[in-house]
Amino acid sequence: MKILSAELVAAAARAEDFPRPGPPEVAFLGRSNVGKSSLINRLVQRRRLAHTSTAPGKTRLAYWYRIERPRGPLLLVDLPGYGYAKVSKAERHSWKALVESYLDSRVDAKRPLRAAVLLQDLRRDLSEDEELLVEWLAEREIPVVLAFTKVDKLKPMRRAQRVKELGASAQLPAGRAIATSAEAGDGIAELWRVIDSMVGAKVA
Ligand code: GTP
Ligand code: MG
Repeated sequence: MKILSAELVAAAARAEDFPRPGPPEVAFLGRSNVGKSSLINRLVQRRRLAHTSTAPGKTRLAYWYRIERPRGPLLLVDLPGYGYAKVSKAERHSWKALVESYLDSRVDAKRPLRAAVLLQDLRRDLSEDEELLVEWLAEREIPVVLAFTKVDKLKPMRRAQRVKELGASAQLPAGRAIATSAEAGDGIAELWRVIDSMVGAKVA
């Protein structure tokens, strides 16, 4: 994948500060520490574009990264993760509100949100949070791909078994569940192919 440039163009803590709709947006959603920022870096081949951390709760704002490729611009949107228990209730609430207001505001008339990448650690089972997100996106006809993360942490046999198990429980169309590793590079080319097909398509 040829990436001509990648840069941070906006960061916001609340809807009033969101940038005006421009190029198509692809949202990265998932539990805290699942690997959203790392996967964005791997996709755009920049090691330190999005900030990552071994401690959950690193990304606290919504970040828009503008990617230029020969086929045109795209915005990858890094969002805070949900489900991290070790923060105050108020803080948890504000993250949830931010992700929800992002999703609500980006499916309006101009529909800048064209696709979502839902990340899931291959070692964990899907929770109600992921199920609700898949449902929410389906209701709004936003195509979604499930990216299993950190697959380098599992032996090949176990990996294949988990992909099968979790893929079946997610009930997504064929080809919409991909095993990835931001560390080792697995699934990155395939994920780009799916993202581009989703962004190009009007509905899921
Ligand atoms: P929040 O911003 O807190 O929501 O987290 P995040 O989903 O952005 O996770 P982040 O990319 O910061 O990664 C969390 C931790 O997982 C970091 O220590 C990463 O190095 C590690 N990690 C991410 N992807 C991979 C992967 O593919 N393989 C391995 N082994 N570790 C990974
Ligand atoms: Mg992050």
